[in-house]
Amino acid sequence: MHPCWCPLFFRRLLSFTTENGFVREGWSVPLLAPALFVHSVMRIEKDRFFFRECNKKRQKDMDNQKTVLVTGGCGFIGANFVRLLNQEKRSWRLINLDKLTYAGNLQNLAGIEEGENYRFVKGDIGDVVLLESLFTEERIDIVVHFAAESHVDRSITGPADFIRTNIVGTFTLLEAARNAWMDDSSRVDAPLFLHVSTDEVYGSLGETGFFSETTPFDPRSPYSASKASSDHLVSAYYHTYGLPTIITNCSNNYGPYQFPEKLIPLIFNNAMQGKKLPVYGDGKNIRDWLYVVDHCQAIVAVLEKGRPGRRYNIGGNNEKQNKDVVRLICDTLDRKVGLLPNGRPRTELITFVSDRLGHDRRYAIDATRISEELGWQPAISFEKGIEKTIDWYLDNREWVAAVVDGSYRDYYRDMYENR
Ligand SMILES: NC(=O)c1ccc[n+]([C@@H]2O[C@H](COP(=O)([O-])OP(=O)(O)OC[C@H]3O[C@@H](n4cnc5c(N)ncnc54)[C@H](O)[C@@H]3O)[C@@H](O)[C@H]2O)c1
Repeated sequence: MHPCWCPLFFRRLLSFTTENGFVREGWSVPLLAPALFVHSVMRIEKDRFFFRECNKKRQKDMDNQKTVLVTGGCGFIGANFVRLLNQEKRSWRLINLDKLTYAGNLQNLAGIEEGENYRFVKGDIGDVVLLESLFTEERIDIVVHFAAESHVDRSITGPADFIRTNIVGTFTLLEAARNAWMDDSSRVDAPLFLHVSTDEVYGSLGETGFFSETTPFDPRSPYSASKASSDHLVSAYYHTYGLPTIITNCSNNYGPYQFPEKLIPLIFNNAMQGKKLPVYGDGKNIRDWLYVVDHCQAIVAVLEKGRPGRRYNIGGNNEKQNKDVVRLICDTLDRKVGLLPNGRPRTELITFVSDRLGHDRRYAIDATRISEELGWQPAISFEKGIEKTIDWYLDNREWVAAVVDGSYRDYYRDMYENR
């Protein structure tokens, strides 16, 4: 029998008799269900095999020498990431492009020497000429894009910088990567553009549910709207031009080198000085907290094994109300450095202030994809992470003082301009 008859043959074979005696051709439900099940299991296994092979290849590839352009490497997460790569990827060359806005602090990278493996460039991701020359001078294999205006409160009082950096800046960077990579037929290893984004693009949750990678965007602040726009641009460059991009959407980070206007370092600093501890609204807003080094490890896992075109949510599976975070910091400080001079606990400094405009109630991340596909899990529990963070701020009070009095800005002059 000619092979093209096979489907018909099987169709006949699988025909069944209905209650009123008609013979119905086609796939009977009892037979169709197991067939579909077997088919989908085979499909999943095939996909898993494909990803395993891709990941093995990428992982091997990642041991090669790479040149990585990190944008915003003097900020909180960027600096932790540069420090991690500096330890774990000794053969990689890192180019750190940072404008040194108020949030960029070169002291965050003190001890990392300029040389064969590290170069700092002071500049703006929106500077077309600078980007073009960087991509020409350095053979950049990977872009890890952290640079952003990142503080929600500042986006409410002055959104223009958020539009300029987060949207137009990201667009300019994408164009520079596209121009450099698409014309380069001599490139052996595939390049990658990793865009670091936030869970805030998904909006706000009620009491239940989680943000998954398919949750529709619903940003509520100029900050999250500008990040959502940049995510869309990155995704569009993948679909339109085939630029190999990956997006990560992470929950709230905490840890060393965080600028003391964000909740945890702000509370630490005020609590140390016996100042009021401002908490927005009723303090019941919930965030999913992740230790910053866990976030950086997740980014490394995505670089090594992530699939271009894909989005990965990153979260700590660690939801806490703001007021409980503040209480934990107070109790930890009381234990570590003693009660306030008047003998009272620091929780008495907590002051509820009028709520932030459009304050999102709850964020919670479903990180199943990154855990199942790439094997990443957070390693540091919240209690341990807070302990480590407070120890770091206690050991680095000069760093905090320099940020608070603004003298951290002199560091660039001392390091670069006065030489
Ligand atoms: N902090 C969080 O909890 C969190 C959570 C999820 C995602 N993110 C994202 O991670 C990234 C880094 O966040 P962060 O908290 O480290 O931010 P940050 O504000 O501490 O650092 C931002 C860095 O970008 C630099 N920068 C700003 N504008 C620039 C420009 N135009 N050109 C070059 N450099 C510029 C700043 O100088 C600074 O060093 C951001 O994209 C943010 O949206 C942050």
